[in-house]
Amino acid sequence: MDEGERLQKTLARAGFGSRRACEILISEGRVTIDGRVAELGNRVHPDEQVICVDGALAPTAQNMVYYLLNKPDGVVTTASDPQGRTTVLNLVESSVRIFPVGRLDMNTEGLLILTNDGRLAHLLTHPSSGIAKEYLARVEGDPSPAAIRRLREGVELEDGITSPAQVSRVSEGLLRIVIHEGRNRQVRRMCSAVGHDVTRLVRTRIGPIQDATLSPGSSRQLSLGEVRRLMEAVGMTDEIASTMPS
Ligand code: URA
Repeated sequence: MDEGERLQKTLARAGFGSRRACEILISEGRVTIDGRVAELGNRVHPDEQVICVDGALAPTAQNMVYYLLNKPDGVVTTASDPQGRTTVLNLVESSVRIFPVGRLDMNTEGLLILTNDGRLAHLLTHPSSGIAKEYLARVEGDPSPAAIRRLREGVELEDGITSPAQVSRVSEGLLRIVIHEGRNRQVRRMCSAVGHDVTRLVRTRIGPIQDATLSPGSSRQLSLGEVRRLMEAVGMTDEIASTMPS
């Protein structure tokens, strides 16, 4: 049997900070392996051993799952809906508990990531991540070059001016919009602010993740390469190193 991997590497991948920060957790006696307090220098087999931090089970990479869903119109992005509507969780079959990363409006379609990796989810949705999200927006009328310029440069919304966006006209009444923020109903409000209400909105990219072949309502697991590119995009460098096959 191989000697396993360093405990701090496993913990860093599970989202407990840098390897150095995880060494401190271990030296403070806050980490247990199979119920015994861990020591610096311990090596583990995360698939076979129970690792806890402050008494709570650590989500090690071996039990992290990452799904990509093409959300259809009319499905809600919540864990459960008191009104009994279909939720994004109803559309993804996972043996472990997962949650959506960020949200799409009920009437917005397109790509949504679901995972149990709280650290990646936090970093992807944090305003400072600046992750690009690309949308195709069908709008009323046909925006003029001046309206498109306003969308690009920033429009005044009730919660402040929007950051610069990449906006191009695909065809009459169809815009491709890339934003780096994630405010509530942002694309719809931006378009309305320049006089063109959105009639259909589809998210086509989240940072490095795209999939034009995934049909509405379908989901699939992200590949290891896609997970690594996402981690790279949010600066999870320790975790990328530990997803490399040894
Ligand atoms: N912008 C919106 O207006 N709605 C979404 O669902 C996502 C981005």
